[in-house]
Formats: sequence, structure tokens, C-alpha cells
Amino acid sequence: MDEQFIRQTIRQYKKAFEDHYPKNEISFAGKAFLNQAICGLVAQEGLGLDVASAGELYTAVTAGFPTEKILFHGNNKSQDELELALHYRVGRIVVDNFQELATLVRLTHNRHQHQDILIRVAPGVDPHTHRLIRTGQEDTKFGFNLRSGDARKAISQALEAKPWVNLRGLHCHIGSQLLDTQTHQEAIDVVVGFLADLSRDSAWRAEEIDIGGGLGIRYLDSNRPPAIDAFAEATATSLLCSLQKHNLPTPTLLQEPGRSIVGEAGVTLYTVGAIKTVPIQEEPGKRIYVAIDGGMSDNPRPQLYESVYECLSANRAGQPRDRKVTIAGKHCETDILIWNADVGHVETGDILAVQSTGAYNYSMASNYNRFRKPACVFVTNGKSYLVSERESLDDVVRLDRIPAHLAISAASSEPAGAA
Ligand code: LLP
Repeated sequence: MDEQFIRQTIRQYKKAFEDHYPKNEISFAGKAFLNQAICGLVAQEGLGLDVASAGELYTAVTAGFPTEKILFHGNNKSQDELELALHYRVGRIVVDNFQELATLVRLTHNRHQHQDILIRVAPGVDPHTHRLIRTGQEDTKFGFNLRSGDARKAISQALEAKPWVNLRGLHCHIGSQLLDTQTHQEAIDVVVGFLADLSRDSAWRAEEIDIGGGLGIRYLDSNRPPAIDAFAEATATSLLCSLQKHNLPTPTLLQEPGRSIVGEAGVTLYTVGAIKTVPIQEEPGKRIYVAIDGGMSDNPRPQLYESVYECLSANRAGQPRDRKVTIAGKHCETDILIWNADVGHVETGDILAVQSTGAYNYSMASNYNRFRKPACVFVTNGKSYLVSERESLDDVVRLDRIPAHLAISAASSEPAGAA
């Protein structure tokens, strides 16, 4: 992970929103990439942090992240998670559903503790992105539906729960890897329209509107996501126009970019192992499979979202890319990382660098086939720093327990009394 790239991107975000909508707060969406080191970096750069589980919250807390700058997310937060969030006094809890709201009201009341919240709404807009990373449409598990009246009902329940629960505003997140600003603009229009409707029969005014994350990145050289400044200008203009149209006061604009902050900062390095050529029907009559020492356990995105990547042989970077090869993972699956990659000549032992893997790779890594998670390294100013260690074989079995009757040395292979 390129530390300077992450810092520069954060600074671009801050500058862009400072220019177009100064009343704003930016939080990094930790789900894209989280460990204690990035918490330090994000805190140093002055951003807030969006967490979506007890584990993400605990990572931030143990890194010393200022908890008042944490937003706590999730569509099914457990009571334990809510208690943890209250215990650490997170800045805001983004409430997703009625059960959560009721639990939170009860907990804050019992603890005599105030908590700022946002209500998450589904604006019913449909972004142009993979169906599995769309979240703003009406048929979604996230947030309160606007049309059914649920959002309105949630807001009145939250307002009745004053002073323990303090409703600061609304939240929406419409989808991820968006390559234009249109859907964000539509969502802002819908949410502000809804606030305008509310303002006719309620004195409540949103102090904050959170538009989530979603800005896409360049996976392929040909991808053209909006520049951060253009994104800021488009969203700020839409918000200001909608507010003016409905004569509403200006709230603080919150947002939670994840992918666009860390995605292009990351490169995954693999070592090339087996290489196989097999005959195929189509042109050019053969396929060259190049197997690497990782795969769907460190990058499940091709399997889940049919995501595409580009790569190069790091030790042959200057050589012609005159041959297409298929990069295969080493799992017991057809975990093809890249079909027909323009890599050129590759040999066993080469270091293959896959670009734009900084977001939703390390954070979505698994131990499938009992693979060990790889190490994660930050590089800056010509130096490298280990920020997450490579898992060891001992880590693989660390949580295993063998009941006495299953111990290989046990006299009987069945539990006592099983007969
Ligand atoms: N805020 C909320 C409430 C979110 O759910 C998300 C992402 C974000 C912010 C950050 O969105 P971003 O700026 O990164 O687009 N695993 C999928 C992406 C899932 C996105 C989940 N929510 C992938 O690998 O493409």
C-alpha cells in the first residue's frame, strides 16, 4: 500500500469539499481496508472513520482512534455491538431498522447516556454498477424505505426518544464503484425532497446529511471515474440547489469514501508457480495458465462481482507485452484472477503485480483451504513498514480445539456413552 498515495487522495478530498461545500466532514469507510496502521494514518489526516462491526470498532479503539469521530454502521447490529459502541462513546450510530432503534432507545435510557444518531434511508435510486454492490434501490436490505412511510415513522420514533437519542440527520449509501455522479445527485435530490416533505408537518430540521461512499476507481487503464474535485462539485451543487429549491437550511454534508481512498494505493504481489499451455477451440488455439501463490482467498472480487484487473510481471516491467496469459489462483476452485491478461513473457519465479487491489481485498480475505493470509506492507519515501503480519501455520490452528474423544491418540474414537 502506497502511504503517500493514500495521504494525497485524502488531501484531495478535503480540498475539493472545502472548495465546494466547506460545511462538511469526511470519514474513511474502514470496510474497504482496515488495520491499526491505517487508523493512525486516517487520524493523522483528520478524517473520521466509518466502522461496520465490533471487530472494526475494536481495531479503531485499540489503535487509539478518537471515538467521537467514529460512525457505527450495520444492518443488523447486535445488542453487544450497540453496547460496545455506547461503551466507547462513538460519535454517531447510523440506525438501520426498527429493532435496532428500539434496542438503542432502551440501552441509552437505561445507561442514562446520550447518543447522536443518523437514520439510514433507501432513496430508491438505481446506480449503474454490479447488482451485488447496489444498495440505494428500493428493494434492499439496508435502511428505512422512504415510500412506504417507514422512514417517517423511524424519524418520529427517534424524536420521541429524546433526550437519550439525538437525531442529527439522515444517511444514505447508494452503491459502490460508481463511474459517474448521476446517481449520487439523484439520491441527494430524493433525500432533500423527503426532508422538505417532513418540514411541512415537523419542526425537526436535519443538521447533517450523509451521502455514504461510492466513487469508483481505475481498475483498468480504460476506466474513467470522475475526478474527486468533479465529484465534490457535482454533489455539492446538487445539494445546494435542492436545499434552495425547498428553502431548507444548509446541513453539514457527511460522506464515507472507502474504495476511492485506498483502492489504487494497493498492489498485490504474487510469485508465479506452475505454467501450463492447454489447447482450446477459439483463437489463438491455446491458453496459457499462469498459476500464482494466492487467489480467491486474498481477492474474492473476480468470483463475486466478475471484477477485472490488470497486472504486470514486476521483474520484466519494461519488456513488450506481446502475449496474453490467464492468471489462475491456487485454490481448489476455478479461481481465475484475470482472463487473458496482457502480460507478455512470464516465467516461474517471476513476481506478478496486480494493480488497484487496495480496497476490498485484504479486508475481504479468507482462510479458504486453510491458506494463510498474506502480509500487508505500507511503503513511503523509499521505506517499507509491515502493518499486518503474514499468518503463520500456528495461526491456522490457533482456534482449533480437539475434544478428548477425537484425539488421534485416544483409545476410543467415539464419545463415552455414544453406543
Ligand atoms: N458507507 C457505507 C454505509 C457503505 O456500505 C460503504 C460500502 C461505504 C460507505 C464505502 O463505499 P465505497 O466508497 O468504498 O464505494 N465488497 C464490495 C464493495 C461493497 C461496498 C460496501 N459498502 C467490492 O469489493 O466491490
